[in-house]
Amino acid sequence: MNVKACIFDLDGVIVDTAVYHFKSWKRLADELGINFTEHDNERLKGVSRMRSLEIILEIGNVTKTEAEQQELAARKNTWYTEMISKMKPEEVLPGAREFLELVRNAGIKTALGSASKNSGIILEKTNLTKYFDVIIDGNHVTKAKPDPEVFLKGAEAVQAQPTDCVVFEDAIAGIEAGLAGGMKVVGIGKPEILNKANLVVSGLDKMDLNKLNTL
Ligand code: BG6
Ligand code: MG
Repeated sequence: MNVKACIFDLDGVIVDTAVYHFKSWKRLADELGINFTEHDNERLKGVSRMRSLEIILEIGNVTKTEAEQQELAARKNTWYTEMISKMKPEEVLPGAREFLELVRNAGIKTALGSASKNSGIILEKTNLTKYFDVIIDGNHVTKAKPDPEVFLKGAEAVQAQPTDCVVFEDAIAGIEAGLAGGMKVVGIGKPEILNKANLVVSGLDKMDLNKLNTL
């Protein structure tokens, strides 16, 4: 295909923030007396903040009112933003910056398509903002992945047809979102888990223009 735009998920594709999400959810779970493990944390990848909280409350069999849930999610986010505000450019995943440069030099547009409402600060702290033509994140969408809204908005903003776009995703819900939007999807992670993707690589350090154009 003749790729016009690449749309990147953030957490798990460009940076590894899962550890910060885990630490802050774990702190909240501990306060609530809920046993929340790293294994459970896998279920939160690609999932919105409020849905993540629901999953943790389900694990602990704990019921909270809507207002209490808002307060708990806000508390977690305060701890999370304290951690990501200390992120460094060295925390960008291997090959991510280089691949962004490669596609941009090839005249391909770049968009961010993330569920996070904190993408702005993460891109700023890691010096990545300048590599994106457009940023669509949790502040711009109403429907969570696997709904394709975030990626369709990204394609539209860079004036590309969905069929000319390639999505990069580490979460199953994100892969489903890209495919539902009519885009090609590269899974970042393990082929046995991300088997719906058109191609799976272990990281952006394993991507090149040749692989992109043969999608
Ligand atoms: C996604 C992460 O990118 O963003 C999820 O994979 C996270 O784990 C979601 O819950 C929302 O992030 P935030 O920063 O808005 O709480
Ligand atoms: Mg992700």
